Amino acid sequence: MCGIIGYVGHQQAAPILLDGLARMEYRGYDSAGVAVRSETKGLQVYKSKGRLQVLSDMIHGGADVEGTLGIGHTRWATHGEPNDINAHPHVSEDGRIAMVHNGIIENYMEIKQQLLRHGVTFKSETDTEVAAQLLEFHYNECHNMLEAVGRVLRRIEGSYAFGIICADYPNALIAARKDSPLIIGCGENENFIASDVTAVISHTRDVIYMEDGEIAVLTAEGVNLFNDEMDPIDKPHSHIDWDVSAAEKGGYPHFMLKEIFEQPEAIRKTVSPRVREGRVVLDDLRLTKEYIQGVSRIFIVACGSSYHVGMVSKYNWERLLRRPVEVCLASEFRYCDPLVDDHSLVIFISQSGETLDTMAALREAKRRGGRTLAVVNVVGSSIAREADDVLYTWAGPEIAVATTKAYSTQLVLMDLIALYLGDLLGTIEKTEYDTILHELEALPEKLERVLASIEDVKYFASRYFNHDSIFFIGRNLDYAMGLEGSLKLKEISYIHSEAYASGELKHGTISLIEPGTLVVALGTYEPLFDKAMSNVVEVKARGAEVLALATEPLKEKMAHTADSVIAVPETHPVVQPSLGVVPLQLFAYYVALQRGCDIDKPRNLAKSVTVE
Ligand code: F6R
Repeated sequence: MCGIIGYVGHQQAAPILLDGLARMEYRGYDSAGVAVRSETKGLQVYKSKGRLQVLSDMIHGGADVEGTLGIGHTRWATHGEPNDINAHPHVSEDGRIAMVHNGIIENYMEIKQQLLRHGVTFKSETDTEVAAQLLEFHYNECHNMLEAVGRVLRRIEGSYAFGIICADYPNALIAARKDSPLIIGCGENENFIASDVTAVISHTRDVIYMEDGEIAVLTAEGVNLFNDEMDPIDKPHSHIDWDVSAAEKGGYPHFMLKEIFEQPEAIRKTVSPRVREGRVVLDDLRLTKEYIQGVSRIFIVACGSSYHVGMVSKYNWERLLRRPVEVCLASEFRYCDPLVDDHSLVIFISQSGETLDTMAALREAKRRGGRTLAVVNVVGSSIAREADDVLYTWAGPEIAVATTKAYSTQLVLMDLIALYLGDLLGTIEKTEYDTILHELEALPEKLERVLASIEDVKYFASRYFNHDSIFFIGRNLDYAMGLEGSLKLKEISYIHSEAYASGELKHGTISLIEPGTLVVALGTYEPLFDKAMSNVVEVKARGAEVLALATEPLKEKMAHTADSVIAVPETHPVVQPSLGVVPLQLFAYYVALQRGCDIDKPRNLAKSVTVE
């Protein structure tokens, strides 16, 4: 949700800023802008509504802009419509200060009124311009930029990652963060700020994760960090060990397709290091047997696809752990007076580790005495750092807005945690434990087989892409998986789609089925296969066209009733959604492709949702 970048060094800043923004464009793509300072031209600001390419064309890839200090922004609009004026960077009234911001300043209206009374005039409708003007106001009072930034931070409420440059400080880039991600990239005679490591990885692997309340002053020669009391602090540097190619398309037409195909490897990386001599070993998890035996209730809290992982896990965990598991939408959790106490284990699932709703829910759970465990993909992200325990999914960087490999690695990691806890609790029989673990290890090879049958899915997508509305139905784990299949389809193809528990159909939804309606019937959950078949019969009787998903052994049986069937290899039911979801991802992808949609950057969405 909005990407910010900053550069200070000896190279021309503009091309570096544009390249960094291109790597973060998935965070927002309503508008983009850069501000660069040079000795001769002063502060130059270019910004434009639309994709980054519009800005890049405007300044000829940065060639038109001179200077070695600059900031840039790619926007997902919150305050004010996406247009040239509301695009960042925002510049203070006298043109000396430029600012980029990710987050929301909640009390901006109140501050704006005060500044208006002092005669300040505003160009945009944004909260960020208010912060830039307030900074100038304080700078005019104290004539010290760092002091003025401190005064602004004490005055504003809400979330922010700021990048600031000032014409009076030709060699300094100032950064600050609270509740919005910001990292510092440390290079040789050059330094960077960015919302995401992907923006700087082609320049440096040496990064500092900024914490809430911290302020940084970067020059070409070094980085000075301060806490919220303005005392200088020292922070450890982290080394990024993934390759820059992980954040590039590598010959695929879209990141989404590349990431779908990366799933076998991502799952292998998530599972293999955690299996030793036939047992799940979670070295990073500090939950003792005594603690887990005292847990009376487990919550799983997340948003979107991560929430859908929670839905799958609820079925699996309750079955394996014999403990009540409640799955909650993070945006609802903190306002529903949740029954969390010191006997509650609260799991937070998040690819980005920055989702504001999930973060707020985590703080709420901690406040109520719950023990928190984060399942996160982005190392060093806010949720990872604030939870009591963290387990990482090793999916690598996920760039497409619609998640695929992060979802899949979350699923298998949740399965591993269930095995681990079930072992401590003594609720899983040895043979079942061994089978599930064996199937998790065999998953990458079975997934390769699913991916090899891509042509079938492509064909069905070409047959069905023109439908206006598509229903996904299934029971139990198939229902949970259908939620994800339906979300994937609607978010990238813009086709209306709903997922229903098949048994619920006759309680209302079946009235929507008419001749030609496409129903995707999920029948991979073997224990309820016959019931899934009856639901297919029901919708067929109302004229629906049925595309079914079944396991290989049951494909033929399903084909007696459904119009078409996609088959996936069979595995243990606990693990089956990890195989079943892949054709649904591919179906969504190829339907969206047929419809000419912008697959990696669907309209109105952003990868990392850092606003409420
Ligand atoms: C859908 C998707 C979103 C995210 C959701 C939570 O494809 O990616 O629904 O799953 O915004 O994001 P994280 O997992 O980063 O907390």
